[in-house]
Amino acid sequence: MTHVFTIAIDGPAGAGKGTLARRLADHYRLNLLDTGLTYRAVAYALIQHALPLDNVSAAETAARQVDMAKLDRAVLSAHAVGEAASKVAVYPTVRRILVEKQRDFAKTPPGAVLDGRDIGTVVCPDADIKLYVTASTEVRARRRLAEIESIGGTADFAEILADIVRRDERDMGRADSPLKPATDAHLLDTSEMAIEAAFLAAMAVIDDVLAKRDKA
Ligand code: C5P
Repeated sequence: MTHVFTIAIDGPAGAGKGTLARRLADHYRLNLLDTGLTYRAVAYALIQHALPLDNVSAAETAARQVDMAKLDRAVLSAHAVGEAASKVAVYPTVRRILVEKQRDFAKTPPGAVLDGRDIGTVVCPDADIKLYVTASTEVRARRRLAEIESIGGTADFAEILADIVRRDERDMGRADSPLKPATDAHLLDTSEMAIEAAFLAAMAVIDDVLAKRDKA
């Protein structure tokens, strides 16, 4: 059987894991899945149908209908959709449906880089590499503000910071699959690190694992 290679990347919003995942998928020629988009797609479907986010059975239906080939980042990236996603993400039945789709994606050769909150702990506990990417809340808020300003928008730093703290609390505090590093994850704190440095650090970890495997 061909070995399917899996890189699991977890961490809070704004730590840089999305960019890192894209760079690693490019470099190692692996498929890429931003699992946050699957939760966003569920939230977006509910919003589109003017359904409350606590309508669990509608959320389950929306989760079943998520088409992994049609996750549209442009539509799903809105900040409000991210907030709503973290609310539907607390429902275990919704998670189970999406996790199954994410696992199927991961199994497709040659393998994949998946980023999210529970990849190393729940979705792919046997991943070849697990990275936990984090950064201080202040740094993440500063990055988000810079991102908004770079596209001509304006925002209030204190509000962004409060938003990030709230989202972290929801993601780390939920009962099912809370955000936390897997016990065997490599920690990467990007607070003082540019994305290029984070990429090089991640590559060093991965190349080390690959070299040991070649020798075995
Ligand atoms: O990463 P992103 O901001 O797109 O994720 C949106 C929300 O989806 C997160 O705040 C989190 O609540 C949820 N999520 C999750 N598990 C994942 C990925 C995202 O619960 N694997």
